[in-house]
Amino acid sequence: MAILKIARMGHPVLKRIADPVQDPTDPEIHKLINDMVDTLADIGGAGLAAPQVHVPLRVVIFHVPGARLAAEDQVEGTPPPGIPLTALINPEITPLGDEMVDGLEACLSVPGLAGTVPRYSRIRYRALAPNGSVIEREATGFHARVVQHECDHLDGILYPMRMRDMTSLGFVEELRRYEDKEAGD
Ligand code: NI
Repeated sequence: MAILKIARMGHPVLKRIADPVQDPTDPEIHKLINDMVDTLADIGGAGLAAPQVHVPLRVVIFHVPGARLAAEDQVEGTPPPGIPLTALINPEITPLGDEMVDGLEACLSVPGLAGTVPRYSRIRYRALAPNGSVIEREATGFHARVVQHECDHLDGILYPMRMRDMTSLGFVEELRRYEDKEAGD
């Protein structure tokens, strides 16, 4: 088990285009993924991209709690199950339609802050799993958002670069305080 150090905004590893993984079954890649899983479990959060732990390779991990999906995916009527911890190697995203939706995002590499970011509301993504098999899924809501956020890290993009209205950027502590006031607490 290894907890890895998180690169913060400003570090060059977060600005570059990450390199494709040549062999997803390489034990070194599996070690990287295991360490990323340990790191995410330790620090908390929905996902982590390899460049965030100073490794410029096209690898991301993420998970989606069922409650999070249910809260934002009300189109189907029935809450879908959560997405278990998933590792994506060399992921590719295809938007399904032009519709974009705003949502609040935060990032372990931009600690303490959150801001409103537009993302495609429906996507298809394709990637390799650590055993070399192909993962192909369609995603909506928070699931689509977290995959777009994590995959952006592989292209040197942090969420503030996607924001359209910088006035929504703020410290999480202050945003929560303001929300409480709005709610009348
Ligand atoms: Ni991030």
